[in-house]
Amino acid sequence: MPHIKVAPFDTKIVDNSKSSLIEFRAVHSSKDIVLINRDGKKIFLDIVKKEREYLVKPNKITKGSDTAFLKEMLNAFAKELNLKILHANTAEKPHKPKIAHEYFKTIEDFYNFKSNFKKIKLEVGFGSARHLLYRANEEKDTLFIGIEIHSASINQLLKQITLQNIENIWVVNYDARLLLEMLPSNILDKIYVHFPVPWDKKPHRRVISNFFVNESIRALKKGASLELRTDSQNYYEYSLEVFSTPKSSKFSVEKNIDIAVTSKYEDRWKKMNKDIYTVTLESLEESEARELKIDFSFGDLNRDVEIPRESMIKEDYFVHFGKKYDRVDGKGFVVECSFGSFNIPEKKMIVVNGSGYYLPLNPVKSLVNYKAHNLIKEVLNG
Ligand SMILES: C[S@@+](CC[C@H](N)C(=O)[O-])C[C@H]1O[C@@H](n2cnc3c(N)ncnc32)[C@H](O)[C@@H]1O
Repeated sequence: MPHIKVAPFDTKIVDNSKSSLIEFRAVHSSKDIVLINRDGKKIFLDIVKKEREYLVKPNKITKGSDTAFLKEMLNAFAKELNLKILHANTAEKPHKPKIAHEYFKTIEDFYNFKSNFKKIKLEVGFGSARHLLYRANEEKDTLFIGIEIHSASINQLLKQITLQNIENIWVVNYDARLLLEMLPSNILDKIYVHFPVPWDKKPHRRVISNFFVNESIRALKKGASLELRTDSQNYYEYSLEVFSTPKSSKFSVEKNIDIAVTSKYEDRWKKMNKDIYTVTLESLEESEARELKIDFSFGDLNRDVEIPRESMIKEDYFVHFGKKYDRVDGKGFVVECSFGSFNIPEKKMIVVNGSGYYLPLNPVKSLVNYKAHNLIKEVLNG
């Protein structure tokens, strides 16, 4: 993480600065934070005071931000305030551009998802993408959505898409457990989950869960199916349990069947004579339309509200407030907040100034985040 160490200084110079870069300073007993605004892009910098030096670094909620931008903001902050730098790792090197490709999509591209393709199929955790590329070449009238958390696999697939002139794959670098709920009901013709990580010691990290299965059945067309292939006896047995719960579906099991294209994993397991299970879960009914009207605005908030220390745990989401920082200009406060689903929580700063907003960006528009937002709003309303 980029940071600078500077000689101790009177932090009031931050408040009195005329710099357009600095919005305000807020304080907690452990550190100060400063809201930096460069052309509407906002981040918090932490100032941690030590006896001989002050450490200035991006606040941890900026994790995932462009490092070059963070370095630039740290350097600009020190320059604007004329701070004496003792140590810095903020040399601005040319940085790798973020992935840019016509078929590379973000989770936001699914907010109002529509497609002109006749069919839509989803592959979760495509890895080397052998199966996905094969299918996309075979079925040109189908849009394939490939979702992966591993960036190297994403880049590899994007290269192949260019080389093979493929026009029917969307590639998403995101956690598959969150994507399905963004999709409208009854639109998928297939979901492939081939050789998911078994997570024997941490089963809560598995892609397949009750929630995932219910969302799959909703997003699949009537008669369409989710195909799980696994070499793990544990995962196989676990899937039977999960697949037998929902009403509007049925499943079937096949052992050691040959499919048109095998993945690297499958080849490896076959050589080892391992059993491979194919479990197919079929959606039997038309599902109700899902219309998510999600709005993360706050309306009026109470600047003098007491922040609860206890986590608020609900059935499918939670809200936990962290440190509260009081603004030095008296115009409200900033509070750290983790919330949303247990597996993929959001971590944000909330600026409360009569109304309120999230930083660095609004949460992902998922149902659990929306439920959590409503609870946060209620608490901050006093
Ligand atoms: C064992 S590999 C199998 C890859 C490929 N399906 C195959 O058959 O060769 C599992 C893949 O799932 C990806 N993965 C794991 N959890 C995921 C998640 N929550 N969302 C999306 N991809 C995930 C991993 O990065 C990995 O590439």
